[in-house]
Amino acid sequence: MPPNLTKPNSGFTSKPSPLCTFVSLIFLLIIGFYTLHYPPGNPKKVLLFQQIFLSSASNSTIASYLRSLTSHPHLAGTKPSLETIHYVKTHFQNLGLETHTVPFQTLLSYPVHASVLMHFGNGTVLNLPLNEMGIPSYPSSGLIQPYHAFSPSGTVHGKVVFANHGREDDYRTLGLMGVNVNGCIVVIRKGGGLSRGAVVKIAEKKGALGVLMYAEGDVSKGSFGSGVERGTVMEGVGDPLTPGWGADEDGERLKLEDKKVLQRFPGIPSLPLPFESAQLILDSLGGPLAPQEWRDSGRSNLSHVGSGLVMVNFTYQGEKKLATIYNVVAVIRGLEEPDRYVLMGNHRDAWTYGAVDPNSGTATLLDIARRYALLMRKGWNPRRTIIFCSWDAEEFGMIGSTEWVEQNLVNLGAKAVAYLNVDCAVQGPGFFAGATPQLDNLILEVTKKVQDQDSEVVATIYEKWKTMNGNNIQRLSGVDSDFAPFLQHAGVPSVDIYYGRDFPVYHTAFDSFNWMINNADPFFWRHVAVAGVWGLLGLHLADDPVLPFDYLSYAKQLQEYKDAYSRVLDGNISLTPLAASIQEFTSAAKQANEETKKLMEQEFTNDLLALKIRALNDGLMLAERGFLDTDGIKGREWFKHLIYGPRSNYESGLEFFPGISDAMAESKNMSQKDGHAAIKHEIWRVARAIQRAAAALKGELV
Ligand SMILES: *[C@@H]1O[C@H](CO)[C@@H](O)[C@H](O)[C@H]1NC(C)=O
Ligand SMILES: *[C@@H]1O[C@H](CO)[C@@H](O)[C@H](O)[C@H]1NC(C)=O
Ligand SMILES: *[C@@H]1O[C@H](CO)[C@@H](O)[C@H](O)[C@H]1NC(C)=O
Ligand SMILES: *[C@@H]1O[C@H](CO)[C@@H](O)[C@H](O)[C@H]1NC(C)=O
Ligand SMILES: *[C@@H]1O[C@H](CO)[C@@H](O)[C@H](O)[C@H]1NC(C)=O
Ligand SMILES: *[C@@H]1O[C@H](CO)[C@@H](O)[C@H](O)[C@H]1NC(C)=O
Repeated sequence: MPPNLTKPNSGFTSKPSPLCTFVSLIFLLIIGFYTLHYPPGNPKKVLLFQQIFLSSASNSTIASYLRSLTSHPHLAGTKPSLETIHYVKTHFQNLGLETHTVPFQTLLSYPVHASVLMHFGNGTVLNLPLNEMGIPSYPSSGLIQPYHAFSPSGTVHGKVVFANHGREDDYRTLGLMGVNVNGCIVVIRKGGGLSRGAVVKIAEKKGALGVLMYAEGDVSKGSFGSGVERGTVMEGVGDPLTPGWGADEDGERLKLEDKKVLQRFPGIPSLPLPFESAQLILDSLGGPLAPQEWRDSGRSNLSHVGSGLVMVNFTYQGEKKLATIYNVVAVIRGLEEPDRYVLMGNHRDAWTYGAVDPNSGTATLLDIARRYALLMRKGWNPRRTIIFCSWDAEEFGMIGSTEWVEQNLVNLGAKAVAYLNVDCAVQGPGFFAGATPQLDNLILEVTKKVQDQDSEVVATIYEKWKTMNGNNIQRLSGVDSDFAPFLQHAGVPSVDIYYGRDFPVYHTAFDSFNWMINNADPFFWRHVAVAGVWGLLGLHLADDPVLPFDYLSYAKQLQEYKDAYSRVLDGNISLTPLAASIQEFTSAAKQANEETKKLMEQEFTNDLLALKIRALNDGLMLAERGFLDTDGIKGREWFKHLIYGPRSNYESGLEFFPGISDAMAESKNMSQKDGHAAIKHEIWRVARAIQRAAAALKGELV
């Protein structure tokens, strides 16, 4: 789905005209007058600062940040990445923010050599291209050749089978056609919803020797040729040598041979291929005809799934080594509640130039910092502490953020109000949001205040987003960006927002500044829109006297999840414990909302009221922590959140209560009695988690 933006869209409305600028100036003068006359924390003053924030938007500053950040490839742990660290740190420091870097020493993985040879029956050998064509040759461009981080090294030789997306059901389909992948090399096309690591693990379980992956070519790239999608195949998140604790330079670490380390890596080598190279292999296959839905749209001739006379010899040699990574953290201390944290984070490391992934987000974060600093010069001090986080080594498995969360677990547990993540801020058209449900209303309200930049008529993001998908807010069960450690390990309410999705140059050498201006955001107004939403979310969470959380929205969501399980369990297993706990949670949510209303109506602040608000806020902040469980999700114990988190059973389509979903899949292998017991146990665990959340929200002992 290539973003259709090559023609400058006439819909880029609401650019500041001279008149607008004049009006804003007057407005700023008026604000300047009022800010002197309101006491700190006064709601009217807070509103005025939000207006200044919105009127200080600038597409050109964001563009210049992005250009600087993307001038070289900057893979984590490599020398050129130091420049981006310095750039971000200096930016925060020059704004007068309290800034520091947090180094960690973690296991990373780099390629040394790779080759894929096709041996034809007549003796001809073809050495397949593995890099993107049409870009400066390696290593002069500074680009690292396409690879899968943490793939084991090895040489494998065998016949080839095409296994579609590499899901369990794809192998079942092959099995029905009489095709077995045991002892073969499988070719996979990306797009089945599984992580890279999961695809390789499944292939390994089926007896495959190695995995070659390609992404369906994007025809619109034309003369570019195809990009090659780099990525990690490690499962789980964080440094594999320091599971559960921060990767301090001189700290304890596991040995590379430790079973706990090895189980996170696949046992067979894998490599990404350019589309054209994958097609050469696929065109050589014999065997049964591929099902129609396995064929690529547009360009492919794929018709057989394998195998044939052609043998493929595939070698990957990589090195895993300790490298130093750096998070950059900048702080704006809260005036009234410095011990409450609003965290705004984005990763900085990129597979290549990283214009979309992730530096569209970095440039946006830097611009929010610039605008917040401007507010401070006008007399603003947030009520709570705001922390800007620029993470390293996300691409290898959320390593920078995970190590930091592990190291700060107790303070975050006690004091973190919310984590606002932006990864690929701008990928193309259309606003998307994911969040834990108590933040839904805040997101809706904030998007009503920010202009959409793509509409033919003047419209807010909210209105445009409504016509697109009815303001659908996704949930954060995926483990695909830095919200994962915050939500799924530490229980911090989280948000993830972006413009556009499924951009065609994902993790390829073509994710460059030029691609951004030619395809995704020619004049940086989508960046401005993301900055508006992200920055306003931060201001509300930092300044609103009562935290803008609505747990009725969470309660409603939990009820829907329960109903979904009730349908699939078909009355065979009782969901009564879950129903009871959701009822308890709902009444706690109602009580919190009433308390909020009552406290907000009070005209004059006094110490007693301040303490009451603080107690209410504690409940609102800590409720999410209730969903954590010390034992975590079975088989993936690091993941502590029982509502949102990864599941191993991808086929159920149930992206919530992962423990119950997995137990249902496992129960198929058990006696009915044992199976039901396993499912019931997981239902009880979730019910107890919801009870804990309800008690935390109420803030009372039972
Ligand atoms: C061998 O077969 C391949 C594929 O069919 C063909 O491209 C190549 O020209 C052949 N080489 C010789 C020497 O016949
Ligand atoms: C694909 O099929 C078309 C028509 O059947 C053929 O002309 C073309 O050469 C094929 N392409 C490849 C790469 O085999
Ligand atoms: C496969 O390739 C590797 C490296 O190019 C080579 O050392 C090995 O002998 C080859 N194996 C076969 C069976 O062709
Ligand atoms: C900022 O927006 C204006 C108006 O659309 C445009 O003329 C200008 O080129 C943009 N600046 C950048 C750096 O894209
Ligand atoms: C429910 O139980 C009935 C009878 O034991 C069984 O036939 C059915 O498959 C079960 N349904 C589910 C979803 O387990
Ligand atoms: C069920 O058992 C089979 C054979 O022991 C195993 O291959 C499969 O992975 C098991 N499935 C689940 C969901 O545990």
